[in-house]
Amino acid sequence: MRVLVTGGAGYIGSVLIEELLTTGHEVFAYDDLSTGHRDAVTAPARLIEGDLLDAAAIGGALRDHRVEAVVHMAGRALVGESVADPSAYYRANVTGGLVLLEAMRTSGARRLVFSSSAAVYGAADKQPIDETDPTLPTNPYGETKLAFERALRWYGAAYGLRSTSLRYFNAAGATARNGERHPRETHLIPLVLRAAAGTGSAVTVFGEDYPTADGTCVRDYVHVSDLARAHVLALEALAAGGQTTAYNLGRGGMGASVREVIDAARRVTGREIPVRAAPRRPGDPPRLVASCDRIGRELGWSPAHPTLEEIVESAWRYQLHI
Ligand SMILES: NC(=O)c1ccc[n+]([C@@H]2O[C@H](COP(=O)([O-])OP(=O)(O)OC[C@H]3O[C@@H](n4cnc5c(N)ncnc54)[C@H](O)[C@@H]3O)[C@@H](O)[C@H]2O)c1
Repeated sequence: MRVLVTGGAGYIGSVLIEELLTTGHEVFAYDDLSTGHRDAVTAPARLIEGDLLDAAAIGGALRDHRVEAVVHMAGRALVGESVADPSAYYRANVTGGLVLLEAMRTSGARRLVFSSSAAVYGAADKQPIDETDPTLPTNPYGETKLAFERALRWYGAAYGLRSTSLRYFNAAGATARNGERHPRETHLIPLVLRAAAGTGSAVTVFGEDYPTADGTCVRDYVHVSDLARAHVLALEALAAGGQTTAYNLGRGGMGASVREVIDAARRVTGREIPVRAAPRRPGDPPRLVASCDRIGRELGWSPAHPTLEEIVESAWRYQLHI
């Protein structure tokens, strides 16, 4: 099918495009390159440079290329920044998303897969989190993701636009071609690997007194290639008539603590990784782990790279080659 990936020049988008090409789809990336990279878009996928807020440009891209389905990844994704500047987040993630939906209504594209986030759940007490658990975001980033998911439900009911929201926990790892190259890196694994490579500073561990086995926060890291495969399955399910729904995407009930990530990186790289302890960051829940039963049951998805070592090793190989 002809698929347009908004944010296709970004980290997850570039890996998804590799997967879509491998599975025989015709692909267009739509990206303003604000945090993405032109050379991350694998040929023969085409990069259309444009801002999501430009209704004429996104509408033209959908019509000119007779796009059948959209994967919507473009947006802003830094929690701290969203607290400092919610306006930028509502504009990019909600207004931008609605511009896209209007363009899809006009163009006739009626299927969409959305990059949502574990942030829609907020600081859930019950772990692992499943899709029926309450959605109570604790920051504007999560609020904007949830607002767009909700819009999708109503657009689905009224206009026949069917969608799948994929609530990623922590995307990590790399392919041979693409990995994390964020201009402002806040994610643990690339920061740990930069410290290992000597190109970054010591890793800051925020809080060592959480109620977890080693006192550091536990998160759910999923290999970016496994994430990409889930999008292809979701697109195929929608093409086969699937209805609007949401799925969690993590490693399936398995979390890793900050300490475990650092230890895995020490084993994989064989390098020293300097660490410094700091107090807890406000709002960081001790544990965020996904239940992935629903996507396993309904789409047959399970991670092909289920170990932390595989994830860290792929990211390290990427780190060494960029
Ligand atoms: N990385 C994660 O662990 C994670 C976790 C949960 C959800 N997500 C979501 O997944 C999506 C992709 O994340 P990523 O890590 O690949 O981020 P990224 O920053 O690498 O990719 C986002 C892409 O969107 C583009 N973009 C941003 N605003 C745009 C606009 N107005 N118009 C056109 N293009 C625009 C950027 O240039 C970039 O290429 C985001 O929506 C993010 O919220 C990511």
